[in-house]
Amino acid sequence: MELNGTTALVTGGARGIGRELTRQLVSFGAHVVAVGSNPKGLAELAAEHGTLVSTDTVDLSDPEAVDAYTDELPQRHPGLSVVVNNAGVQNLSDFLTSDPHRIRPLLRRELAVNLDAVITLSTGLLPHLKQHPSAAIVNISSGLAVIPKPSAPVYCAAKAGVRTFTRALRYQCDDAAPHIRVIDAILPLVDRHDGRPRPGKDHPGTGGTRGDRRPPPGQDGDLHRQGTPSPRPHAGRPFARIPGVAPWLMPRRSSRHTPPAARVVF
Ligand SMILES: NC(=O)c1ccc[n+]([C@@H]2O[C@H](COP(=O)([O-])OP(=O)(O)OC[C@H]3O[C@@H](n4cnc5c(N)ncnc54)[C@H](OP(=O)(O)O)[C@@H]3O)[C@@H](O)[C@H]2O)c1
Repeated sequence: MELNGTTALVTGGARGIGRELTRQLVSFGAHVVAVGSNPKGLAELAAEHGTLVSTDTVDLSDPEAVDAYTDELPQRHPGLSVVVNNAGVQNLSDFLTSDPHRIRPLLRRELAVNLDAVITLSTGLLPHLKQHPSAAIVNISSGLAVIPKPSAPVYCAAKAGVRTFTRALRYQCDDAAPHIRVIDAILPLVDRHDGRPRPGKDHPGTGGTRGDRRPPPGQDGDLHRQGTPSPRPHAGRPFARIPGVAPWLMPRRSSRHTPPAARVVF
């Protein structure tokens, strides 16, 4: 797909993998509309790219905000023809020791960002994308959609939902709108922070360095279990079973020390 001159929406475009996708899309000549919930990160991104990037602060865990944003975005950016649903959040949960009332709002927000917002943006922007001669929707899933890890059941379920939804949408577009490419991208494990903690996100000492949103120590008693040996042979190594279960994922594996490897190839 020719990206030069297009406008691309990248949710979570100011941080981690989304930031690298933004950088690459800009290098291919696209104008990027980056969405995030943290205005500071978005301001830094805007300062880095100038007029090549627009930024919008939207809380993707708020379905009403996502509805409103989906409706108004094409008016501000009529050239929008690429949508990359990249924003994601992962909570570590232990349902056996958690207070269900306390974790329920967190789980709902996790579902909202990882699945509801993806479906709303994909379907809500489809009528607009259809008008372009060439368009793309890229929804970022995860190997954990295929091989779930015990500590993040809702994240894994949401990513499996993204994968299935995206494939079904692709089948619809294959028939009715083949000029819209619909892609479910299963990312490998990517160490995208160079070990640096993110302000307000990573909490030293909890081991959360992979986008796992753990509460600060002392406030997290009922959310996750730390240091408990698991009898499961592959616990803590979610990709260990891949060769047997999903061999097609093997070439996509990367080491934790590999810099963000995503290439924009639509
Ligand atoms: N890293 C990996 O190994 C890996 C592996 C497989 C799949 N993935 C998937 O790849 C995608 C990017 O992951 P990453 O590792 O780059 O994660 P990350 O560094 O934690 O970044 C997450 C992004 O999502 C945005 N976001 C989170 N909650 C939001 C909300 N409520 N509203 C708006 N934006 C929100 C964040 O923006 P703000 O900071 O502005 O909120 C941030 O830009 C995710 O979908 C993730 O599930 C990652």
